[in-house]
Amino acid sequence: DRVVLAYSGGLDTSVAIPYLAEKMNAEVVCVAVDLGQGGEDMELIQKRALDCGAVESVVVDAREEFAADFCVPALQANALYMDRYPLVSSLSRPLIVKHLVSAAKGFGGTIVSHGCTGKGNDQVRFEAGLAALAPDLEIIAPARDFAWTRDKAIEYAEAKGLPIETSKKNPFSIDQNLWGRAVETGFLEDIWNGPTEEVYSYTADPKQSRPADEVVITFEQGVPVKVDGRALTPFQVIDELNKRAGAQGVGRIDMVEDRLVGIKSREVYEAPGAIALIAAHKELESVTVERDLARFKRGADQRWSELVYDGLWFSPLRNALDALIADVQKHVTGEIRMTLHGGNATVTGRRSDDSLYDFSLATYDTGDTFDQSLAKGFVQLFSLPAKIAAARREKALSC
Ligand code: ARG
Ligand code: SIN
Repeated sequence: DRVVLAYSGGLDTSVAIPYLAEKMNAEVVCVAVDLGQGGEDMELIQKRALDCGAVESVVVDAREEFAADFCVPALQANALYMDRYPLVSSLSRPLIVKHLVSAAKGFGGTIVSHGCTGKGNDQVRFEAGLAALAPDLEIIAPARDFAWTRDKAIEYAEAKGLPIETSKKNPFSIDQNLWGRAVETGFLEDIWNGPTEEVYSYTADPKQSRPADEVVITFEQGVPVKVDGRALTPFQVIDELNKRAGAQGVGRIDMVEDRLVGIKSREVYEAPGAIALIAAHKELESVTVERDLARFKRGADQRWSELVYDGLWFSPLRNALDALIADVQKHVTGEIRMTLHGGNATVTGRRSDDSLYDFSLATYDTGDTFDQSLAKGFVQLFSLPAKIAAARREKALSC
């Protein structure tokens, strides 16, 4: 048998290689997907899989695909789970699943495997994705199905002499990609403990003083296409904003989050590019999207975020919500100017040929074309139901 393992190069999936080989009496094929994870050496990861005993080890460069097909839709949905978390890990799992399934086909794998525990969201995202794309593949999650603890994994790695850095001194579980970085476990499990500077790597300390950075982002139908007038791919836009917003400490998030399995967990995130881009995109929508559509979309955006967080990327509801969101993006074209500074991405200007902002309707100065005489009757009719209800209350009180 052949097991195709979604390999990250970290502790849990490295330990899984010799363990699966022994336990299942199988050959292990490792697939690592490059999603633009900052500071990770994909060649080293590929080699590490072989050093841990894999028979094949492949790295898939999915950076542009991840940016265009996952980060951009999330941006168009202004996707923030619990109004804060830009879905970093949730966006990556369906794409990893897609490449895992094609590797299983290519290498003759009948079993697929991932390193998730039974306590998290990622197991759900992997397996819901597999259920949608390749329901015939058998799934094994050694950390969950054979009840590995982190201590046990570290011991096993030491006993087997596996070449991995995770030690008792560096106890974080980290998941990172182009859209951001998630850090959990270790001393962060005490929710009174503040994150120390060592936790962060995509962002500089926002308290350090440095000159502000001004950036202009151009969107075409909801897709970011230029930074400061330079045409870039979605991957390049996000990468550049990760660097520039990251240097200003933008996008640090420290939260207690509701996992799908019912646990509340402490999560520290940094997503400088995502947070800056979502702020810019939201602002351009506020200028170009009609009021009722904008109000409706806020609900759709939230539902989209929850659905994707919950692992249901491959679902009819997401397809339908995507169609709505795509329709809204038709007019989300224009430019947003922002100042990146002191941990904030602050919008300072907007301009768009599709703008619904009408200066002559909005102005309080000369040039006003808004007919204020229409407002008086409008306000009376608008408040009529509340007025009638108030009269009934008065009547009830007086008898
Ligand atoms: N809590 C976040 C989420 O569910 C981050 C998960 C990070 N995953 C990891 N294997 N460290 O999306
Ligand atoms: C895990 O428990 O495998 C990682 C965290 C998560 O999936 O939420």
